[in-house]
Amino acid sequence: MSRQAEAVWDPAQYGVYGDERFRPFRELVERLGDVAPRRIIDLGCGSGEPAATLAGRWPAAVVEALDSSPEMIDAARAHEIPGRLTFRVQDLRTWDGHDADLIVSNAVLQWIPEHLELLPRWTDALAPGGRLAFQVPGNFAAPSHAILRELCTSDRWTARLGHLVRDAPVLSAEGYLDLLAGHGCDVDAWETTYMQTLTGDDPVLEWVKGTALRPVLTALDATAADAFIAEYRERLRDAYPPRPHGTVYPFRRIFVIARRT
Ligand SMILES: C[S@@+](CC[C@H](N)C(=O)[O-])C[C@H]1O[C@@H](n2cnc3c(N)ncnc32)[C@H](O)[C@@H]1O
Repeated sequence: MSRQAEAVWDPAQYGVYGDERFRPFRELVERLGDVAPRRIIDLGCGSGEPAATLAGRWPAAVVEALDSSPEMIDAARAHEIPGRLTFRVQDLRTWDGHDADLIVSNAVLQWIPEHLELLPRWTDALAPGGRLAFQVPGNFAAPSHAILRELCTSDRWTARLGHLVRDAPVLSAEGYLDLLAGHGCDVDAWETTYMQTLTGDDPVLEWVKGTALRPVLTALDATAADAFIAEYRERLRDAYPPRPHGTVYPFRRIFVIARRT
């Protein structure tokens, strides 16, 4: 879907299925192992829980957390620890950092088509031995996203929503490895598909309302949004039927840790 500038974020909706959303971040951070960063930057910090986790895991570090969404930063400020964990509105496309020991970006780069140019610059912002760790969804071919693209380009919606459709905005794990190894980093890249078993009514719809559907909900007025959601809900029910144990929503994620040598 479209770039971030066209999406208004809703921290409460993003918090739905918070445990499932948080797991890839936890596993990314676990993989960093026994490092002792002094200065940590969270790029695209959302409503602040991941940055608060980083501050808790490394109590001697200073954490700066940035996001372009004023709604997200307002929510994140509840986690602020003066002098140790701070939040501010900043578009990552114009962020110009230096001397970071650890840069983390969780579930953000899929919103920034320009990130392939930004990533090498971000590794240049690391102190020697510092790490850039990021995680992106790798599920743009999944029915949840394919159906969304189909609806946006259907006769009924294309005039209002067709402009939101674009190519898959992320590389494969191998693609990121080549990009950052080519820039002189030691790179650890991998992928995981989580078999998320979600409960509640229309759980896949509730999931995407927090993320992939944001640009659509931003572009439509309330009546049109309800009509769009009604169509989308029907298609999602066919693609992800509820089972006795819940609704299974397979979710592939791509992980990268690049160390500046
Ligand atoms: C799916 S949320 C992830 C938030 C957080 N990292 C987490 O894991 O909970 C994506 C975030 O990326 C932010 N974002 C997207 N494009 C951005 C940009 N160009 N500059 C800064 N933040 C951006 C959004 O505002 C949103 O908060």
